[in-house]
Amino acid sequence: MSGFRQLFNGIFLVNGRICTKNLVQGINVYGERLFSENGSEYREWVPFRSKLAAAVKKNLKTVPINNAAKVLYLGIAEGTTASHVSDIIGNDGLIVGIDISEKTMRKLLGICEQRKNIIPIIADANQPDRYVESLEHIKFDIIFQDVSQKNQVDILRKNAEIFLKPNGFALLALKAKSISSTSNVKNIFEVQEIELKKHFKIIERVNLEPFEKDHMFYVLQKL
Ligand SMILES: C[S@@+](CC[C@H](N)C(=O)[O-])C[C@H]1O[C@@H](n2cnc3c(N)ncnc32)[C@H](O)[C@@H]1O
Repeated sequence: MSGFRQLFNGIFLVNGRICTKNLVQGINVYGERLFSENGSEYREWVPFRSKLAAAVKKNLKTVPINNAAKVLYLGIAEGTTASHVSDIIGNDGLIVGIDISEKTMRKLLGICEQRKNIIPIIADANQPDRYVESLEHIKFDIIFQDVSQKNQVDILRKNAEIFLKPNGFALLALKAKSISSTSNVKNIFEVQEIELKKHFKIIERVNLEPFEKDHMFYVLQKL
């Protein structure tokens, strides 16, 4: 397959590969390929490494991340996915990345030095009252959440109540096995969706197989 096509704002298909335009010329983040097309540099966005890329690969129709958007990223880890979101929002955008693990955050710091639109905070996403002051009451356009916790939906609800703009979007990677290792996966998603619908409109859902087992990716809009 060959050619160049824009899939969403800031997301491209270049020679059959999902890509973002590299905000930091000549530097990759996790070993992904860089290549030039039409005078710009692109980074391959690998679906086996990023659940949002996997969702795009699985024909997600809605990616509501605009240039200059403010994104609260819960479970930013080493910044693999966040680096592509950083490409999409550009230098006028902002990602505040929360993660509970100091070890992964140490690796993220190097990326934050190159990408000035990412601010890391070590914190428990389950306790947003602990970081509400440091965010100086910023309201976010988007919450992106990828934390393997039993109460994933409640973590999203709490953060959305405080930080998400009215009608703002949440992108949620829901891992069934973190909720129950024994229940039927389909039932887990059904029960979680009942809870989600109390606070969000479900715009879209995509099962991430074969890229991630027992994961559903949701695009949600705050009610
Ligand atoms: C699957 S990884 C995220 C990968 C990342 N989203 C990416 O695609 O590059 C999940 C992350 O959630 C973090 N995490 C788990 N529980 C958390 C919590 N309660 N608060 C904040 N981060 C948490 C873990 O430390 C881990 O880095």
